[in-house]
Amino acid sequence: MKNIGMPRAQWASRLGFILAAAGSAVGLGNIWKFPYITGNNGGGAFVLVYLGCIAIVGLPIMMAELMIGRHTQRDAVGAFVQLEGKRSFWLSAGWVSVIAAFIICSYYSVVAGWTLDYVYRALIGSFSGEPAEAIESMFGTLIADGPRQLIWQAIFLLLCLGIVIGGVQKGIERWSKILMPILFLLLGLLFINGMLSKGAWEGFAFMFRPDFSKLSAGSVLEALGHSFFTLSLGMAAMITYGSYLNKTEDLLAASLRVVILDTLIALMAGLAIFSVVFSVGMEPAAGPGLVFKTIPVVFSQIPGGALLAIVFFLLLAFAALTSNISLLEAQVAYFIDERGWSRKKATVFLAGLAFVVGIPTALSYNTLADWEVIGERNFFDSADLIASNYLLPIAGLLIALYVGWFWSGSKEKEELVAGGSGWVYPTWHFLIRYVSPLAVAVVLYFKAKESGLFTWLGGWF
Ligand code: PFF
Repeated sequence: MKNIGMPRAQWASRLGFILAAAGSAVGLGNIWKFPYITGNNGGGAFVLVYLGCIAIVGLPIMMAELMIGRHTQRDAVGAFVQLEGKRSFWLSAGWVSVIAAFIICSYYSVVAGWTLDYVYRALIGSFSGEPAEAIESMFGTLIADGPRQLIWQAIFLLLCLGIVIGGVQKGIERWSKILMPILFLLLGLLFINGMLSKGAWEGFAFMFRPDFSKLSAGSVLEALGHSFFTLSLGMAAMITYGSYLNKTEDLLAASLRVVILDTLIALMAGLAIFSVVFSVGMEPAAGPGLVFKTIPVVFSQIPGGALLAIVFFLLLAFAALTSNISLLEAQVAYFIDERGWSRKKATVFLAGLAFVVGIPTALSYNTLADWEVIGERNFFDSADLIASNYLLPIAGLLIALYVGWFWSGSKEKEELVAGGSGWVYPTWHFLIRYVSPLAVAVVLYFKAKESGLFTWLGGWF
């Protein structure tokens, strides 16, 4: 049973699509992860490598995903059914993407719940006047508290549900048009605050002064892996959003806008965070500690900090919200298109399922802390490992190979020509055929090696 006879939902405007796709791309990855991996990998040198990865791997694959979606007007699995029939090997690209979306949605919503908890704390002034140690310990208290995390996760998923249930135009597009401008404004405020602080110069140097000695082969892998996550690739999100795109839209221009916005926001977030951290003479911590420990301490020590803390955590929460709705929509589209479910039923079911599967994630630092799922990793780290290290690159690789080598009838060229960017076809085709698959295969190999897959497999032979 399929909804084939029904007219496909479409974005009402180009701006609506750009904001929704940028909303998907701009998430916790930009505001929290990008700054600290940049800091750990030699600042400016890493930024250069990252920009290269975005240009030669991220952008071409984003164009490929939008193309597949727009061409077939179906969800990520249905797209491949339509292109190659029900029994084709390429369906695996769709399946891997949708499963990745499902796994990420479950743990992303737990982390998003933490951001809501911090919005609440900032609002009630929990950080004001407290000593640094007391503020830092609040994070430990939160992750040690399973029920508290679950309540915030449920609230966050309800917000996502409320938006996705409204549909493409009245839900996702409308809310992206409200949330994204607010997000730009909040980031703008923090950026100005950072630039006016006395740590501005140090922040700039930290982010942009290239230190090639800190750049290793591992940094390049990290940059490549992150370019996938940050652009929401390999997770069915862009195929799905592409399927609501008008046939005459220029795919190169659309992808470029999303990629540029995503990169700009990551850079601005890095500058805003590091400047203010250096202004009080602190060292930027890595990992969750940076946003959930260092930042609240910093804001408790500067004038206007109580307000800035609210702005910062709201920014994180909004970024997480617009990203997670794309993950939910990617799965909802599958149930609507392929199983004939109503949007309401699919959304409620999938948000509920994300909650249930998110439970062991929320319990990963308390009740289930001793449960080692993969190697010595708890449930949360294992879910992240499977999705980010394996499923995303596998889906990306399959998509690049399919579009570059196996899509019959040169339909990919048609898709570019239709929007007026046929001229870029030779360059793009070269990248998607040779460069992107090779780069992603290398990432996959080393990630597998790093996470011990080969040693583990060795034990079986
Ligand atoms: N791109 C988001 C980020 O950088 O945080 C995360 C994400 C959202 C990944 C949506 C995948 C996705 F489909």
